Amino acid sequence: MFQLVIHGGAGSLEGKTAEAKNIHQSLCKIWEETFEILNNKTAEEAVISGICMLEDDPIFNAGTGSKLQADGEVRMSAGLMDGVNNRFSGVINVQNIRFPIKAAALLSKEKNKVLSANQATEFCRKHSFNEHDPLTPTRIREYKQKYEGLHGTVGIVALDKKANIVAGTSTGGIGNETPGRVSDSPTVAGTYASSKAGVSCTGIGEQITQQAAAAKIVIRVEDGMTLSEAVSKTIMESNYFNYSFGLISLDANGRIKVGKTAALGEVYYAYHNGERIETFYK
Ligand code: GLY
Repeated sequence: MFQLVIHGGAGSLEGKTAEAKNIHQSLCKIWEETFEILNNKTAEEAVISGICMLEDDPIFNAGTGSKLQADGEVRMSAGLMDGVNNRFSGVINVQNIRFPIKAAALLSKEKNKVLSANQATEFCRKHSFNEHDPLTPTRIREYKQKYEGLHGTVGIVALDKKANIVAGTSTGGIGNETPGRVSDSPTVAGTYASSKAGVSCTGIGEQITQQAAAAKIVIRVEDGMTLSEAVSKTIMESNYFNYSFGLISLDANGRIKVGKTAALGEVYYAYHNGERIETFYK
């Protein structure tokens, strides 16, 4: 048994049929390629490779195509959690690299597992990450127009044949934020896993953090709730505050649950429902 769910952020694509179709097609392709990796390798390898593909696709707000912070700089963040070994690692506001998730993965082998800002970038240079400019003309235009568009993040949760669950999330932030602002993605609020479940969140990072959403859902499953109950309860509590975020999740039996608060348009998710790849795009 192995299973995989991915997301390419969240927001509202009402009236934007072409953009929705592009996101759907990209998610289907990346889901298939990542599933093939998961068939032969570990959940960790699949999550890292799949997120690299999402980071490289400029349609998504992570890696190349990340949004700009208020000072016009791109700062990217990523978190990775190995559920079986209870190991979280991440980079916060790293600059000018191609794959923030690879930096998070490398940090999982270090004593200090989360690095931020210039020191995170220096760590990457020391480990031969080449200079890479993640700016795209679309994001520069959006920044100038103060366009909100797609809420941040891409993410994957995978269960491999050896029952390891791994969750990963990568983001360019929410756009136009105070320089140095910290997203939920490189924290256990946005990315969390155990041997029983894994979660990757998307949406307004501050609200995800205030709910400790990913960690809370996983701990609820640890304590005996089904994944569906844990997601529903966490979403219900978040609706009370009118928060706007969503998530993908997966349990040790390969059950998948996609959740979102009432205030959020939709989560751009993809997984295989047993018959075909199902996505947000109908
Ligand atoms: N969830 C992504 C962010 O708020 O930065």
